[in-house]
Amino acid sequence: MKYKTIFEPFKIKSVEPIRLTSQRQREHHLHRAHFNPFLLHSSDVMIDFLTDSGTSAMSAAQWSAIMSGDESYAGARSWQRLEAEIHDLTGYPHILPTHQGRAAERILYGYLGGKGKIFISNTHFDTTRANIEFTGATAIDIPMPESAMIAFDHPFKGNMDTEKLESLIQTYGAQNISAVILTVTNNSGGGQPVSMHNAKEVASICKKHKLLFILDCCRIAENSYFIRHREVGFRNKSYRSIAQQMFALADGCIMSAKKDAFANIGGFLALKNKALAEACTNLLIITEGFATYGGLAGRDMDAIAVGLREIFDPDYLHYRITSTTYLGEHLHKKGIPLIMPVGGHAVYIDAQKLYPQIPVNEYPGQALVCELYLRGGIRSVEIGSVMFGKYDKRGKLIPAPKELVRLAIPRRVYTQSHIDYVVEVFDEIIRTKENARGLRITYESELLRHFTAHFEQL
Ligand SMILES: Cc1ncc(COP(=O)(O)O)c(C=O)c1O
Repeated sequence: MKYKTIFEPFKIKSVEPIRLTSQRQREHHLHRAHFNPFLLHSSDVMIDFLTDSGTSAMSAAQWSAIMSGDESYAGARSWQRLEAEIHDLTGYPHILPTHQGRAAERILYGYLGGKGKIFISNTHFDTTRANIEFTGATAIDIPMPESAMIAFDHPFKGNMDTEKLESLIQTYGAQNISAVILTVTNNSGGGQPVSMHNAKEVASICKKHKLLFILDCCRIAENSYFIRHREVGFRNKSYRSIAQQMFALADGCIMSAKKDAFANIGGFLALKNKALAEACTNLLIITEGFATYGGLAGRDMDAIAVGLREIFDPDYLHYRITSTTYLGEHLHKKGIPLIMPVGGHAVYIDAQKLYPQIPVNEYPGQALVCELYLRGGIRSVEIGSVMFGKYDKRGKLIPAPKELVRLAIPRRVYTQSHIDYVVEVFDEIIRTKENARGLRITYESELLRHFTAHFEQL
């Protein structure tokens, strides 16, 4: 398209009202939520950028597929449609449905894990890491070194460091490594894409050492967009065929269907190896449900089957990636420090750099999350020392490596004018940035404290 305006390639048939609030009302809501946006009521939020997971708008085709959901316990038509769709996309023969991505993680990594076992990834997503560590195994992240440089421009900053992969195999011994996991796009690494070249290198190292290679593929369509536009040799390939080429390199995948499959719930595990699939099927039946529904209703499986096709629509993917980039580049032009280049599903702000007056033990990311809500009713999430900070033996905070705030954009939910509104709110954030104050934790749980912590403003 020669025009600058982002053209949302859909019409809106059904709407959900957004209640507009004043700053005064939001002050009250924020106090009531103990300065933790996870504790806000969604009806008090104007723009919800907390997550892109399960928050997509489904299409008319998905809603009508829901009406033909077959709720039979075994062998439902909905399952046959979903299985055929996943098989056609991934090429993997063994497919296990689950109620969401982490259930597939629990099954596969629970089976492969255990004390002394090692898992290696470009970056383990937090539920992936938790499922691995829960078994007593160790999860090691080896993103490419450039990924640590927030402002450094690289087309595939989600890549795995393959030299390090070779050296870890030497250190731990291939027999102790349960799986190598490539997360595409790399969510915890800023939503940055992984190149096909990198996936091929990882695949060939895994093949050489007979290691299991798993794709964490919940944003593989978005990753395919970047490959087509940034990697030599893919210009004339379809997004779906790029994804299929990447699936063919691995031994299996785990997918949360709550992202690129546009579903509000769902996931799956797909594998090449029959014996491994059988072992996982036993665990599936014990913990999720029978092998032809996992934890899903028939109607959910139909919604996922349709979503997995829609996601590769070139007009949709173009709108999706350009609108995330649009938000990031407008903020970048205003001088907001960001992870650059902008990733696929979210914009990540460097809160430490934005608020140099707030020390890490006063949580600059949480301060920005609160300011965004207060000034504009925008809900976002801190990805810094609230989420990943630990304490040493004397109770002193060991901060996270970065103090980020993530604006995750739900799929097909907001229009360009919503995004323009967010950009405008940042003018106010910049104008008032010297006044932003840090926070103190007044209550925290032992695990995953960011969900429920209470704060007090300093
Ligand atoms: C890369 C990645 N893997 C796994 C998961 C877990 O999926 P779910 O939330 O469906 O359990 C997520 C969720 O955000 C994710 O981003």
